[in-house]
Amino acid sequence: MMMASLQPLLLLALAAANTLAAPPSRQSTPRAYGSNTPPSITPETRQNEANYTAPYFPLLGFEQYAGNPILRPNPNNSWESAYLYNPSAIVLDDKVFLLYRAQDQEKKSSIGLAWSDDGYSFTRYNKPVVEATEWYEEIGGCEDPRVVRVNGTFYLTYTAYNNVTARLCLATSTDLVHWTKYGPILPDFTEIVYNWRQPVVYYGPTPAGWTKSGAIIDERQPDGYYYMQFGDTYLYTANSTDLIHWSVSGGAAGVPFAPPLNVWEQGLMESGPPPIKTRDGKWLKVYNAMATGLGGYTATQYSTGQMLIDPANAPLGPPLARIETPILQPTTQTEIKGQVDNVVFSEGLVQFRGKWLLYFGAGDAFLSVAQAPVQP
Ligand SMILES: *[C@@H]1O[C@H](CO)[C@@H](O)[C@H](O)[C@H]1NC(C)=O
Ligand SMILES: *[C@@H]1O[C@H](CO)[C@@H](O)[C@H](O)[C@H]1NC(C)=O
Ligand SMILES: *[C@@H]1O[C@H](CO)[C@@H](O)[C@H](O)[C@H]1NC(C)=O
Ligand SMILES: *[C@@H]1O[C@H](CO)[C@@H](O)[C@H](O)[C@H]1NC(C)=O
Ligand SMILES: *[C@@H]1O[C@H](CO)[C@@H](O)[C@H](O)[C@H]1NC(C)=O
Repeated sequence: MMMASLQPLLLLALAAANTLAAPPSRQSTPRAYGSNTPPSITPETRQNEANYTAPYFPLLGFEQYAGNPILRPNPNNSWESAYLYNPSAIVLDDKVFLLYRAQDQEKKSSIGLAWSDDGYSFTRYNKPVVEATEWYEEIGGCEDPRVVRVNGTFYLTYTAYNNVTARLCLATSTDLVHWTKYGPILPDFTEIVYNWRQPVVYYGPTPAGWTKSGAIIDERQPDGYYYMQFGDTYLYTANSTDLIHWSVSGGAAGVPFAPPLNVWEQGLMESGPPPIKTRDGKWLKVYNAMATGLGGYTATQYSTGQMLIDPANAPLGPPLARIETPILQPTTQTEIKGQVDNVVFSEGLVQFRGKWLLYFGAGDAFLSVAQAPVQP
């Protein structure tokens, strides 16, 4: 019973034995180079372009870039030689920087760094910037980076996985290369999982301390707190005054910020990229969710959706609005057949050269991008 109830949760973390689809033609793929010297980033480095234009909700019109996937596993570096996906993104000094999840042949995850002048062709740093060093990172490693920058410091949330428990962890840096780890940040939280495969027993606990997908809102709210949404079934809220020490709002059991609502998100929900402030002072939150087979969506399909949230007035939720249908779904071969089938998983959203670029993992195996126009 316990294992069955956990099955949907573990889909992303566990290695599926599915075969990889043949990679698409190299001709259409932007070139990716390796480098031993990352660009210099300091607390003074400028973030975003000078003409950055905030979005309003909903931000629509995302289309797959024709040259996807834009980054593939790199056979030259063992730590990123098997799978490469789930990127966070930030614009610094007129370059897009990605922090991405990569897996070696034993499927251990590390976090890599790449940068680009055009948003599509990336140079990557040959060494991982975050790798497994702690007991809670053994075997599974460091997964699913999400980065924000506040007052010149980068705050990175990632999932440490020791092949038993996924734990939401935090690290900080001022240059994207050297990171200080703070360990699991919500160790006492135990999530309730919606047991959608067995509708007689609706809910069951996950292993103690199981937490994932922390997406920090990078602005202190009028009540003096920073907030993040996190979770791996429902989304929940955590609060902090210093961005380092976090508490689950509502105590050990948490307060659901957003339960599944749309038909394609009934299996589970995870944060996407950190929320982005809208033109009218609310926040646009892109998220990922898994379907259960309802409404014509394939069971265990991961899609990306969008909600409007208001941490100043409703820090514990619920969202003010959600789009009813996904903004991105698995449609190409790399998304339909992968390490895990039928997965798009978005974790990076930036505005760059007049476009919104949404970076996502395809089939838990490759890194791709979708683009949408900047709203007038
Ligand atoms: C791997 O190494 C070869 C030989 O040095 C080089 O041509 C190629 O560009 C490298 N690939 C990547 C992704 O860095
Ligand atoms: C960042 O700077 C702002 C403005 O000075 C300040 O209000 C905020 O507390 C700072 N946040 C952190 C985490 O240092
Ligand atoms: C990780 O867990 C899986 C599933 O329980 C198991 O098959 C595998 O042997 C474990 N890996 C290691 C290295 O312990
Ligand atoms: C932050 O979380 C703690 C622990 O659950 C809770 O006592 C406190 O009320 C929360 N603060 C806010 C502002 O949500
Ligand atoms: C902002 O400036 C860049 C470079 O100067 C340009 O490519 C881009 O289209 C501009 N963005 C908008 C939203 O006007």
